Amino acid sequence: MTATQHDLIVIGAGPGGYVAAIRAAQLGLNTACVEEVRVLGGTCLRVGCIPSKTLLESSKHYHDARSGGLAVHGVGCGDVILDLPAMMKRKEEVVEGLTSGVTALFAKNKVTRYFGHGRLLAPGRIVVEGQGEPQELSAPHIVIATGSTPATLPGVEQDNDIIANSTGGLSYPEVPKELIVIGAGYIGLELGSVWLRLGSKVTMLEYLDHLLPGMDSEITREGLRLLKKQGFDIRFGQRVTGARVTGKGKSRRAVVEVEGAEPISADRVLCVVGRVPNTSNLGLEAAGVAADAKGRISVDANLRTNVPGIYAIGDVVPGLMLAHKASEEGIACVEAIATGYGHVDYGAIPAVCYTSPELAAVGKTEDELQAAGLKVGVDYKKGVFMFRANGRARALNQVDGRVKILADAKTDRLLGVHIIGPRAGELIGEAGVAMACGAASEDIARTCHAHPTLSEVIHEAALAVDGRAIHA
Ligand code: NAI
Repeated sequence: MTATQHDLIVIGAGPGGYVAAIRAAQLGLNTACVEEVRVLGGTCLRVGCIPSKTLLESSKHYHDARSGGLAVHGVGCGDVILDLPAMMKRKEEVVEGLTSGVTALFAKNKVTRYFGHGRLLAPGRIVVEGQGEPQELSAPHIVIATGSTPATLPGVEQDNDIIANSTGGLSYPEVPKELIVIGAGYIGLELGSVWLRLGSKVTMLEYLDHLLPGMDSEITREGLRLLKKQGFDIRFGQRVTGARVTGKGKSRRAVVEVEGAEPISADRVLCVVGRVPNTSNLGLEAAGVAADAKGRISVDANLRTNVPGIYAIGDVVPGLMLAHKASEEGIACVEAIATGYGHVDYGAIPAVCYTSPELAAVGKTEDELQAAGLKVGVDYKKGVFMFRANGRARALNQVDGRVKILADAKTDRLLGVHIIGPRAGELIGEAGVAMACGAASEDIARTCHAHPTLSEVIHEAALAVDGRAIHA
C-alpha cells in the first residue's frame, strides 16, 4: 500500500481537531483531517455543547411561557403547548447548520478530509480503516484530537434508552415523568434543567457534597439554592452502585441502587459522571506514545508527545475537558509546528455552566486561594456585587446572582472572576480578556462600562474590591 503524503494529519474533527486543521492549512501546510463519523464537528457540535444549549434555550421559552415568567412582563399566553418533536427538529437543524459549516470551512481552506478510523502505525504513518479499503497516510506531523466519550459506572446497566448517557438525554421521545440524574456536574445540571423545565420531576444523585466540582463554592452554594427553588431534588453524598431496567415494553422503568439507602426508581436514568479520553485502538503502543493510567496522553507545553512528530490536544490530554480549551490547544500546537511559537494561557480559560442562572468562572477560585494558605484582606482582596442592584437585570426580571472578583492584595492583579447570574457565560469574556492581559481589578474599575448593561455588575464588583462600589 502506498501512503498518501501530507505535511500534517489531524485525527479527529471535533473543536480541537477541526480548528487545528483549519489553522494549519491557513499557515500553508498541506493538511488532512481523519474523522470516523460522517458529519464533522465532534461531540461538541453533534451531541454535546450545541444541541444541549439549543434545548436549554427552547425549554426556557416553554418554561417562561408556562410558569408566569412572561406574565410578569404583561404577556399572557393562554394554553401553552409543548411540541417536543418540533423542539427536537430545531435542535437537529441547528446542529446540521453548524456541522455542514465545518465541511464548508474545510473546502474553503483546502483541508483534505478522510472518512474512517485513524490509527497510528508508526511515527509519521497512520492507516484509515472502516470505509472500503484501508488507506495509508504519512506526514511528518500527526495531531491526535480524538476527544472523549461518556464515562460509565460499574453496575449501571445502560441500555441507551431507559438508562442512557448524555447522548440519549438529548433525544428522549417524550418528557419523562420522573428522571434520575446520576452526577451533579456540568452535563447533569444542564440536561437536568432541560427536562425539569419541560415537566419532569428531576432527582439528582451526587457523590460529593456540592455541585460542579472545580467551581467556586460561594457561587455553587448560591446555584444550589436557586436550582432547588426551581424544583430540582438534589441529593448529596449519594454513591450510585448500580442501575437496571425492570419490566417490559411500555412499563419499563429503571431502578437505581445507592450505597446505604433504599433503591429508587424512575421512568428514565441519565448517567453523566464525567468523560474518558478516546485513546484506545489508536495505535499508541505501535507508535510508542506514552499515556497515563487514565489513558490520557502526556504532552509538553507545545502539546508534543514523547514521540517526535506526534502531538495531542483537547480531551485526550490532561486538563479541563472543554471545547474551547481544545480549540486553543489545536491552534497553539500547529502554530508551534509551523512558526516555532505557540501558547495557551491555561490561567485564563473560562468555564460556563448554562443553567438558569448561568455560572461562569475564570482563574483561581477562592477555595483554591484558601487551600494555598492565603487569607482574604491579607493576601487577596475580594469584591462582590449583586445583580439585584443592576438596572438591566431588573429590566430582564433576572435579578438573582452575583459577581465576585478576587485580586492580589499587593499588586491588585486579578486572580479570579466568578459569576452566577443572567448571561454569565457572555459576561465572563471580559474577565477572560482582563486576566489574559494581566489586568488589575483597578483596570476594570477605571474602564467605562455601558449603561444599562449587565456588565456594570462586573464594573461594580471591581470597584467593590476597594470598597467603593457606587450602588451597594
Ligand atoms: P463532571 O465531572 O462535571 O461531573 C460528574 C459528577 O458525577 C461529579 O460531580 C461526580 O462527583 C459525580 N459522580 C461520579 N461518580 C458518581 C457516583 N457513583 N454516584 C454519584 N455521583 C457520581 O462530568 P460531566 O457532567 O459528565 O461532564 C463531563 C465533562 O464535560 C466535564 O469535564 C465538563 O467540564 C465537560 N462539559 C462542560 C460543559 C460546559 O462547559 N458547559 C457542558 C458539558 C460538559
